[in-house]
Amino acid sequence: MDKIVINGGTPLVGSIEVSGMKNAALAVIMGCLLVEDKCIIENLPDINDVRLSLDILAHMGAKIRLIANDTYEIDTTNAIGGTSPLELVRRMRGSSYLIGAELGRFNRSHVGYPGGCDFGVRPIDQHIKGFEALGASVNVESGYIDATAENGLTAANIYFDLVTVGATINVILAAVKAKGTTVIENAAREPHVVDLANFLNSCGAKITGAGTDVIKIKGVEQLHGCTYAIIPDMIEAGTYMIAAAATGGKLKINNIIPKHLESISAKLEEMGVTVEEDDEYVIVSRQNKLNRANVKTLPYPGFPTDLQPQIAVLLCLADGVSILSESVWDNRFRYTEELRRMGAEIKVDGKTAIIEGGAPLSAAAVKATDLRAGAAMVIAGLAIEGRTEIEEIQLIERGYVDIVGKLRAVGADIKKISYPDPVSYGKAN
Ligand code: EPU
Repeated sequence: MDKIVINGGTPLVGSIEVSGMKNAALAVIMGCLLVEDKCIIENLPDINDVRLSLDILAHMGAKIRLIANDTYEIDTTNAIGGTSPLELVRRMRGSSYLIGAELGRFNRSHVGYPGGCDFGVRPIDQHIKGFEALGASVNVESGYIDATAENGLTAANIYFDLVTVGATINVILAAVKAKGTTVIENAAREPHVVDLANFLNSCGAKITGAGTDVIKIKGVEQLHGCTYAIIPDMIEAGTYMIAAAATGGKLKINNIIPKHLESISAKLEEMGVTVEEDDEYVIVSRQNKLNRANVKTLPYPGFPTDLQPQIAVLLCLADGVSILSESVWDNRFRYTEELRRMGAEIKVDGKTAIIEGGAPLSAAAVKATDLRAGAAMVIAGLAIEGRTEIEEIQLIERGYVDIVGKLRAVGADIKKISYPDPVSYGKAN
């Protein structure tokens, strides 16, 4: 029953540190299972999805030790395959990486069907196609995925029917110790795919081409432990860049990789926002009115779908009609209903939203319909004068490290309020 309460209308000014990337961290943590040794992973973001991933490995017999702020030792030497708890796995999408990691290590996998944010159908047919090409037989039954490769996995050429981050990562995990050289074509080029490949290579894997659409994985017999730092979270950085623009403030956003932010910086500049880049930080400021713009989400290096709800808020604040097209997910506009409560004029037609910007917005009680939608509600609350209350904030906490604390430090009037659960009047729950 926790809520975020914002008294908005104040420009954000100051510096924000970006944490490690959620989606890279989830892949690397599951990748540790393949290593059968101790890995020290630095810059792990302190968010619910990371805690959940570490919990899953701990339930499987891995030893997890916090050794410094954001740095964990993960020792999977004695992990046992097929023992991940369904109730933990079902809570997040990243747990699907267990299938590739278990197959790669134990030649079999038994994992609950992964959960995650609700954007319509979230199939895993391309993951399964990849595992089958490597010689596994895969069954989906009673809420579980069972995969077995009795004679071990053998390299294959795999061409994905569409660009998928999850299947690219999962096949890399499965193929790292397979016999021969696996080639993935039409691979996802996202920075977290590259981060996973860099981590596995630091453990002795032989992966080339990550970051392009053809990835080659030469199977090795064994991996060894390493120390590895997760890359900064480009989606967290992009969220704060948009927040600076939405409030007409000036934020220096530290610990970033500017290359990862190019599509976001370009779109903000098109909208009249000033973006100054340096090697490790970006300064985003806005003094003038925002220009309308059209935005289409695409796989990397296109504009990221995980910033689509946040940029929608900015488009609502710009005068004129903007077209926002979602090309990655079937149904990622549920949050527009919440923005309409604030007075936004948005029409959704399939995978396109038509935003009539400049309508007067007013603070309201809204909810996070998913992780990034929740971040968009926070940005709207910061930009609009008056009291915005946001419910379902556990969804936001899945992916943002201390969003309330970071925003307060740059001048936001924002707090988290815990409300007690309703009393049961003596009735058993
Ligand atoms: N798809 C298929 N078949 C498959 C796999 C995917 O049809 O076997 C489709 C999906 O339905 C979707 C598209 O392919 O329409 C792309 O899906 P992808 O596999 O790339 O997504 P994912 O791996 O499930 C990751 C991130 C998401 C992010 C997407 C796209 C993680 C844990 N999740 O999901 O992040 O939106 O890539 O970039 O890495 C978030 O962080 O808020 C988030 C949702």
